[in-house]
Amino acid sequence: MTKTAIITGANKGIGLAVAKNLISKNYQVILACRDISKGKMAQEFLGSNAKFLELDLSRPSSISQFVNQINSDYSEIDVLYNNAGLIYRDFELTEEGYESMLSVNYFGAYRLALMLLENLHRRSGRIVQVTSLSMYLARTFNLDGLHSMESFSPSNRYNLTNLLRSMFAIELENKLKKTSISVAAAHPGVTKSRKSRPYEVKKIKKSFYTYFSTNIKTGIAPIVRAIEDENITAELVYAPKILGVYGRPSLMKYNKLVYDQGLRGKLWSYTVNELNLDI
Ligand SMILES: NC(=O)c1ccc[n+]([C@@H]2O[C@H](COP(=O)([O-])OP(=O)(O)OC[C@H]3O[C@@H](n4cnc5c(N)ncnc54)[C@H](OP(=O)(O)O)[C@@H]3O)[C@@H](O)[C@H]2O)c1
Repeated sequence: MTKTAIITGANKGIGLAVAKNLISKNYQVILACRDISKGKMAQEFLGSNAKFLELDLSRPSSISQFVNQINSDYSEIDVLYNNAGLIYRDFELTEEGYESMLSVNYFGAYRLALMLLENLHRRSGRIVQVTSLSMYLARTFNLDGLHSMESFSPSNRYNLTNLLRSMFAIELENKLKKTSISVAAAHPGVTKSRKSRPYEVKKIKKSFYTYFSTNIKTGIAPIVRAIEDENITAELVYAPKILGVYGRPSLMKYNKLVYDQGLRGKLWSYTVNELNLDI
């Protein structure tokens, strides 16, 4: 039977490459993208098993509209791959007043996943959350003042959003234990995903990344495993085996902060409070 997967941010980079891979395995893929012309271009590039639907994860109204559209056109979704993200962005607030990396990388993924649970449940579906090696660089867990510019830096905030994405995967799995929905997390290492590196990154960093980043095939392999493996758990993260950068996918431990149940509980309450949305 053909499976249906939603991939957010599927118009380029890792999202587009995962979409291509799944389509080659006979999936129907919904390309959930914020930019209409880029979304349509990706749909054309991927062919008739791809369908573009507009989704801007920084806008709650866009997420609601997207979910309504999905529920009316696709009553049974097998996979949600939360891929979309902003990397090392300067401080900017969304219409809602949230810092943009936090809004897209974490709040948007949380909102979308929770709003699609009923649909995913019909097919014993799966939620795969992307995260990043940068989660290991997050040294502290502090949820104070996240929407203010004070003490904001693009790299610290990106690292934090990946810590939060990882904690979200485990906590979501725990909350869904009694349902048929499974949850997994994966990161691609450091992958040449074309323009995935932001213009803000300084020259030295750029060349550093260029030096050891891998091809897109290595990068998407852990994600595809997280989507397709039969027995999965979000307790470990799928990642390239060697140093989390090179080689075949393997299951690795997260940053140890991710395993702190108390912090995960705090994060969940904080998010429920901010978004007024719970399971
Ligand atoms: N590349 C790596 O080495 C690497 C490593 C670790 C983790 N990751 C994670 O993997 C994911 C994909 O990375 P990538 O390298 O493929 O990045 P990318 O090329 O920059 O693609 C990011 C995608 O997210 C979309 N997006 C951004 N804001 C959005 C919003 N508000 N609503 C919906 N979509 C939005 C972008 O759309 P637009 O084209 O419209 O901007 C784009 O399609 C990211 O979440 C990143 O954090 C990447």
